[in-house]
Amino acid sequence: MRPGAAADPQTDREPPPDGPAHAPLPAGTVVDLAAVRREAGIDDVLATLDRELVGLTPVKTRIAEIAALLLVDRTRQRFGITTPQPTLHMSFTGNPGTGKTTVALRMADLLHRLGYLRKGHLVTVTRDDLVGQYVGHTAPKTKDVIKRAMGGVLFIDEAYYLYKAENERDYGGEAIEILLQVMESNRDDLVVVLAGYADRMDTFFAANPGMQSRIAHHITFPDYTVDELEEISVLMTETLGYRFSPEAREVLRRYLDKRIGQPWFANARSVRNAVERARLRQARRLLEQPDPRVDLAALTTIEPPDLLASRVFESVPEDPLAESGIDSTSGALTR
Ligand SMILES: Nc1ncnc2c1ncn2[C@@H]1O[C@H](COP(=O)(O)OP(=O)(O)O)[C@@H](O)[C@H]1O
Ligand SMILES: [Mg+2]
Repeated sequence: MRPGAAADPQTDREPPPDGPAHAPLPAGTVVDLAAVRREAGIDDVLATLDRELVGLTPVKTRIAEIAALLLVDRTRQRFGITTPQPTLHMSFTGNPGTGKTTVALRMADLLHRLGYLRKGHLVTVTRDDLVGQYVGHTAPKTKDVIKRAMGGVLFIDEAYYLYKAENERDYGGEAIEILLQVMESNRDDLVVVLAGYADRMDTFFAANPGMQSRIAHHITFPDYTVDELEEISVLMTETLGYRFSPEAREVLRRYLDKRIGQPWFANARSVRNAVERARLRQARRLLEQPDPRVDLAALTTIEPPDLLASRVFESVPEDPLAESGIDSTSGALTR
C-alpha cells in the first residue's frame, strides 16, 4: 500500500509519500471496515462492474477478493503492521470479445481508488509498441512504454508474440527482460496485465518461467453462453437508447444461436457489431417506409427485419454443409 496515495480520512491531508504516515493506532482501536470501503469508493466500482458486465462471475469474484485484500492491508498498516505490497501482475486469458480489455480498465480504476496505483490509467500495447526492428531500438521503445504506464496498468495484448521460440535472435526477448525487471522493482507503481488466448499464453509461460513467477493472478475469461450474449445485446441496445420489440427479441435469440457457431465469432464483440448493424438497418427501414412519419417508439425500436437481413440467416437450415459452417465465404463476411 502506498501511504502517499490516499488522503487520510482523519486528518484530511496527504501523508508523506514514504514511511509511516503517523503513529500506529493502539492495538485496542476498532476500525469500521464498512467506512473504509465507503471512503475508498470501491463499492461504486464493484457495483458498476456487476451491473454493466454480464456474467463473468469468477472474474468479478477475483476482483472483489483483490479489493478486500488491499483494504485489509491498508487497515493493517494503520496499526503499524507492514507487509510488503502484494504483487498484482495478472494474466487475462480468453477468446476475443470476452471482456479482457474492459475489465482491465475497471481494474485500473479500482486499484487507483484503493491507493495501490497513483494514477490508475490504462496503457494498451502489443508487441509492435515494445519491440523494435533493429538492434538498439527495443530497449528505448519498451522503456518509453513503461514510462507512460507508470502509476497505472500496462496491458500487453497477445503478450505471447513477444517471444518467438523459433528465433533466438528476436528482439522480443530484450523487451521481456526489461519488463521482468520493472515488474519486480516497480511493482508498487505498475501493474502489468498480459492478455491473450489461453493456450498460447500457457506456451509462453512454459518458455518464460520468470514471467510466470511474477504473475500473481491468472484470470480466465470464459466464452459467453447464448443467454449471456442475449443479455449483453439487450444491455448494449439500452445503453444506446434502443430496445428490441418482443418479436425482434426472438429473432435475436435465433441470430445468436446461429452466430455462435460460425467462423469469426468473437463473443461480446460480435454482439456489438450485430447491434450496430441492426441500428443501420433500422434507420434505413424508417427512411424507406411508405409513411415517413415516426414517433419515439419507432425511433427506438429494433424490429425483426433489422436482424433478419443479416447474412447469418442466409444459410438454409436444412443444408448440413451450411450449418456446419463449411461455407467459409459467407462465414467470413457474416457478422
Ligand atoms: N460481460 C460483458 N457485458 C457487457 N458487455 C461486454 C461484456 N464483455 C465484453 N463486453 C463488450 O464487448 C466488447 C468487447 O470487449 P473487450 O473488453 O474489448 O474484449 P477483449 O478485450 O476480451 O477482446 C466491448 O464493447 C465490451 O464493452
Ligand atoms: Mg481486448
